[in-house]
Amino acid sequence: MSKASPLRLGVNVDHVATLRNARGGARPDPVRAALVAIEAGADGITAHLREDRRHIRDNDMARLKAEISRPLNFEMAATEDMLRISIATKPHAVCLVPERREELTTEGGLDVVGQHNALTPYVARLNDAGIRVSLFIAADTAQIEMAAKLRAPVIEIHTGAWCDAVVNGHLDKAESEWKRIVAGAALACSAGLEVHAGHGLDYATAEKIASLGEIAELNIGYFMMGEALFVGLGETVRVMRAAMERGRKAGG
Ligand code: PXP
Repeated sequence: MSKASPLRLGVNVDHVATLRNARGGARPDPVRAALVAIEAGADGITAHLREDRRHIRDNDMARLKAEISRPLNFEMAATEDMLRISIATKPHAVCLVPERREELTTEGGLDVVGQHNALTPYVARLNDAGIRVSLFIAADTAQIEMAAKLRAPVIEIHTGAWCDAVVNGHLDKAESEWKRIVAGAALACSAGLEVHAGHGLDYATAEKIASLGEIAELNIGYFMMGEALFVGLGETVRVMRAAMERGRKAGG
């Protein structure tokens, strides 16, 4: 992939559903948020159907698939139930993520090394269904090499630890996490994987990571939905895209 390749923005609409579910009604509608984000320049929409359905629900996924004009990235745990729903939904992509009921958000990457045997049939069945499989992993050499062996075409690098360190001013940790991401993106790209990144990104961290030409897509949700409260979702998407474009240009 050339350094000047475009960088896609996938907008995660989970937290529109979180807000809706707080009152148990139909508003705000995550599908409406997806349509506004696309209108403002999002390249795709991401949504996570969790086992406990705490935000996105089955009907949201079905409506997203039916109503949006851009690719749908269906995040899910590797379970039989989710596999059945995702294959029936036929999204553009499935991103396999780890999931624990008690967690506030997806806290770490998938352990594709430890779970190699369990994950192999999921990757194979999604590949067979013509769905682009992505594995959400930490930027570690062993994980990346195993992702390539599993024949997943895409990895998404978990940026949460880096973003937390940046936001909390932990400079040494931020630097070491950044180096891990830079090395991981280069390794994954040389292994023939398409590289995405996400979790915890804001304008500043998205601008910085956009400088890595190996990265083809950023998936961003929580920060953007918070910003949208103040400036609107369309404006948030436009400002985020501008930050990503500045970063990409700075990376050459
Ligand atoms: N990518 C993946 C695989 C995720 O699980 C999440 C969180 O749902 C995101 C990206 C977006 O993270 P955030 O909401 O912190 O921007």
